[in-house]
Amino acid sequence: MTTERVGVGVAGVGLMGRRHAENAAWHIPGARLVAVFDADRTVASRVGQELGAPACASLDELLENDGVRVVVVASPSRFHADQAVAALTRGKDVLLEKPMAHSLADCDRVIHAAERGSARLQIGFMRRYDAAYAEAKRLIVSGALGEPLFFRATHRDREATHLPAARGVVDMMFESAIHDFDLSRFFLADEIATVATSAAVLGHTPDAHERAPNAALNAVRFVRGALADIETYWGALYGYDVRSEIVCATGTAMVGQQQGTRLEVYTPGGAIHDLFPGFLERFGDAYREELADFVGGTLERRPPPVTGLDGRAAVAAALAGIASYASGRAEGVAR
Ligand SMILES: NC(=O)c1ccc[n+]([C@@H]2O[C@H](COP(=O)([O-])OP(=O)(O)OC[C@H]3O[C@@H](n4cnc5c(N)ncnc54)[C@H](O)[C@@H]3O)[C@@H](O)[C@H]2O)c1
Repeated sequence: MTTERVGVGVAGVGLMGRRHAENAAWHIPGARLVAVFDADRTVASRVGQELGAPACASLDELLENDGVRVVVVASPSRFHADQAVAALTRGKDVLLEKPMAHSLADCDRVIHAAERGSARLQIGFMRRYDAAYAEAKRLIVSGALGEPLFFRATHRDREATHLPAARGVVDMMFESAIHDFDLSRFFLADEIATVATSAAVLGHTPDAHERAPNAALNAVRFVRGALADIETYWGALYGYDVRSEIVCATGTAMVGQQQGTRLEVYTPGGAIHDLFPGFLERFGDAYREELADFVGGTLERRPPPVTGLDGRAAVAAALAGIASYASGRAEGVAR
């Protein structure tokens, strides 16, 4: 058994990046946090100080550190492609948060940089590491439920985020729906052919015409004929509600345990239990498993299970959803 601990650097230590940094510093025996970088120097210093790692003044400084073997890129997505290319070009292994990039050309740049640098590249679709999703996949691959035919997903964020109308469904597709585009490919083991996205501004706002949609329904067709139905909604207010159903020829797998804790309280008025407030609570274990597996793979030089091509396929589906919202028709997914 090796006792080597893989040096991790994190670029972007906001909500998501800080969690990756905490996992590297405290929760993954095979990892150690070596450096952090954030465009906001106050954030970088605070996180660095709290987690016991130096805060770099630039991404270059982080990449020059020979102790950094794995770079987690968790900056805002418009920086993903350039930062991943910079790290991969220096031979660092990169765990790149979703979305991989905003264009297929940028996805290709990242994939080629990984190939040229002989570096490992994995995209942050951590739901695949969630125990329930992983077990559903195992069952389906075992053939116990027959052929997977239909994927139905609900993704509801608690926060009622409303962006300016000009953003259209860009952020909904890249930030939220992209997880379910990935899961639908994962479970149906096929490529997405077309996406038809209808979207609206629902609830919580008196000035709907000035706002981008906070709700989208995505009807997805796969190349071999399977279907997916993906709901994306920002503003559930009651909690973070992510559920999926994989309908197969002889059975159905449902993922969607919604209790934050195991406490359930019975009263004369009925039974109550709590819900998850957000992604950090619902997928806490999955984020830890994801990074633990990635650093383990860095030592063993294993191919990553969520590849650049997976990231690219999900971006292609998101782009089709954006185009479909604009055109009002189902749009083909670019290869
Ligand atoms: N896998 C998941 O479930 C999941 C969940 C949340 C967010 N994310 C992804 O993580 C990324 C960050 O999201 P977040 O919610 O943490 O956002 P955030 O706004 O909380 O944090 C982003 C951080 O990046 C910093 N930053 C801005 N420009 C930068 C740059 N050029 N280089 C380095 N740092 C920079 C900001 O100062 C901020 O601290 C996004 O791509 C998002 O989609 C993934």
